[in-house]
Amino acid sequence: MSTELPRVDVAVVGGGVIGLAAAWRARRRGLEVAVLERGTFGQGASRAAAGMLAPVAEADLQERDLLTANLESARRWPAFARELADVAGVDVGYRACGTLLVARDRDEAEHVEHERDVRERLGLRVERMLGSAARRLEPALAPSLRLAVALPDDHAVEPLRVVAALVEACRRAGVRLIEGFEVGDLSALPADRVVVAAGAWSGGFGDGRTAGIPVRPVKGQSLRLRDPSGPGLCDRVLRFEGGYLVPRGDGRYYLGATVEERGFDDAVTALGVYELLREASEILPGILELELEETLTGFRPGTPDNAPVIGADPRDDRIVWATGHYRNGILLCPVTADWVAAELAGEGADHALRPDRFVKEPAA
Ligand code: FAD
Ligand code: GLY
Repeated sequence: MSTELPRVDVAVVGGGVIGLAAAWRARRRGLEVAVLERGTFGQGASRAAAGMLAPVAEADLQERDLLTANLESARRWPAFARELADVAGVDVGYRACGTLLVARDRDEAEHVEHERDVRERLGLRVERMLGSAARRLEPALAPSLRLAVALPDDHAVEPLRVVAALVEACRRAGVRLIEGFEVGDLSALPADRVVVAAGAWSGGFGDGRTAGIPVRPVKGQSLRLRDPSGPGLCDRVLRFEGGYLVPRGDGRYYLGATVEERGFDDAVTALGVYELLREASEILPGILELELEETLTGFRPGTPDNAPVIGADPRDDRIVWATGHYRNGILLCPVTADWVAAELAGEGADHALRPDRFVKEPAA
């Protein structure tokens, strides 16, 4: 550490959406807060994300606690976006666009029917439709499309704008924003509490007492595309076997994403790009006309049960974990920030995603 740090109530390690949002909410409760980012804000998974707010598409019968948190956070997003626009003057690109889950052939249609059934059993809103009906909603879909399921409650924001809005909201609120500061030893930080929000790198922290939160990187490759003639190719988020397409509403599109267990290998591969484009073009042939603006890789912070780890470490109350958001960190940003701030304010927060799933208080 070369920079001299001021003493603060709370040091937040990591300047992605989770660390920034938690810092903003903690500052609003009157705490002195610093965010320590080893590179630039948002440079991790937050920059690479699609920005889908997709509690319904991501729902799984085995992951009820995650679903509860995802639904609650989706509910909070409209107000969160409005508040960011008010206090930071940045529009995060919230679009209540809905999502279509689409199937090309019989096998995929069976899978999509199963996914619809799961969501109905979970009490989530879904609407089955034939390919022809889906094409009336999205005329550029391939004529061969067999079946679709509408998920009217899954929407999207633009992660890069979310990062920009949070940085500005923090700055205006008086959070100390420090870039280029790599944290090594949590115990050396001059802070009463330390929030670990280091995304896929969070598993590397610990001093023997606090080691052991099992977070691993899950690589995702994706593309940013642009239609020079403007919007119109599709309006809703499309999810299909092997990927998804997120329209920004202005002729820009995000095509994602691979899911790869390859550690911190950040290569964009020809195969990754080829497969994303091949799968997407079978659903939406016009995608091949778009301009390719950027290829990306990001590392989802994965945990063994796919759910985040939020709350004080049962072995050391000074450490608060806010990590492991895997596929849903943009979605979970509002609720995580509020739960972390409540914890730091000594109120606690009523949820099931605590660190004691993975680490236990030492026996007396
Ligand atoms: P990050 O954004 O990774 O931030 C962690 C930060 O910590 C980084 O900036 C890093 O530089 C910093 N850091 C690490 N170590 C240190 C250290 N020692 N000292 C100081 N700083 C450190 N989620 C959704 O909700 N919807 C989506 O549509 C979606 N799509 C995705 C698509 C892809 C391809 C990927 C990869 C992820 C996607 N996600 C999505 C998941 C989402 O991006 C993550 O869950 C979320 O960004 C995690 O945010 P974070 O702040 O915890 O981590
Ligand atoms: N939530 C989308 C992804 O992680 O790829």
